[in-house]
Amino acid sequence: MSLRPAAAVTGSLAGLCVLVLAAVPVQAAPRADAPRAADREAPVPVAHRGASAYAPENTLAAVDAAHERGIRWVENDVQRTRDGELVVMHDATLARTTNVEQLFPDRAPWNVADFTADEIALLDAGSWFDPLYAGEPVPTLEEYLRHLHGTRQNLLLEIKRPELYPGIEADILRELREEGWLDRRHVRSKLIIQSFGADSVRAVHQQAPAVKTGFLGTPAVGDLPEYARFADQINPTHTSLSEEYVRQVHALKGAHGKPLEVFTWTVNDAATARRVAAMGVDGIISNAPDVVRDATRGDTGDSTGNSAGDSTGDRARAAGD
Ligand code: G3P
Ligand code: CA
Repeated sequence: MSLRPAAAVTGSLAGLCVLVLAAVPVQAAPRADAPRAADREAPVPVAHRGASAYAPENTLAAVDAAHERGIRWVENDVQRTRDGELVVMHDATLARTTNVEQLFPDRAPWNVADFTADEIALLDAGSWFDPLYAGEPVPTLEEYLRHLHGTRQNLLLEIKRPELYPGIEADILRELREEGWLDRRHVRSKLIIQSFGADSVRAVHQQAPAVKTGFLGTPAVGDLPEYARFADQINPTHTSLSEEYVRQVHALKGAHGKPLEVFTWTVNDAATARRVAAMGVDGIISNAPDVVRDATRGDTGDSTGNSAGDSTGDRARAAGD
């Protein structure tokens, strides 16, 4: 299959290195069955790297910060250590969010892939954010999944930089299976796997066809049918989004025969949350998901910030615990 470039700056497609930075808007008549804005459910609020406005990103404290605010979905980023352990970390280097430079001054550039799990376990991933979080560790995926089991939260798992970690999809799926995350209940309503790497998303779909998947980026409208073969979601940055684009995505059926969904990122203020909710997005990924939830609950008649009605709950609730 040959796919044309997507809009996400860090997105990747097989055999392609040139990225186009704007989606191609195509005019089309609205679907006859498209719900009116006032009839839509509010978008699912998703805690980006955990509720990372309130606690250090991609830590268990950030999961708890989301849980304390009643947020049921958390997003994280997964990479692989030198000795094959899966860890929750956004950057390919440990430098920004841990004290690795202090503990291992001779190991520049401090890539995740160059450290063992035991070494990473020594790091402090909290102090950079706030001294209150001193000693907060970098979680392994196993620890993270077990923690979510305790809080009964759901996971939007991002395979970060898959090109650095050949075969990581199989490793992640093995871990998910061992921890009970590939059973029917989890697969039906508690787990989505996404990536900027189309090959990686495709690999997940091929290796675990029941798992819901998302492609991060804003593919050209003409290419959406190809993505729909292996993805259930198209997840663009909110700055690349238009109502027409959302309509075009929704008009297609995804890998599991349901309308393709849109989870957009990273929306951290109420006005933008209302704007994208009015476009009809299905989910909003946010560092401050409570702000998004409160701004869009029972919404969303227009993009001016005027609420269209009473609270009707959110799709996170509808999607299970
Ligand atoms: O979930 C979307 C978002 O996390 C993608 O960007 O860089 O925060 O991983 P990034
Ligand atoms: Ca991410």
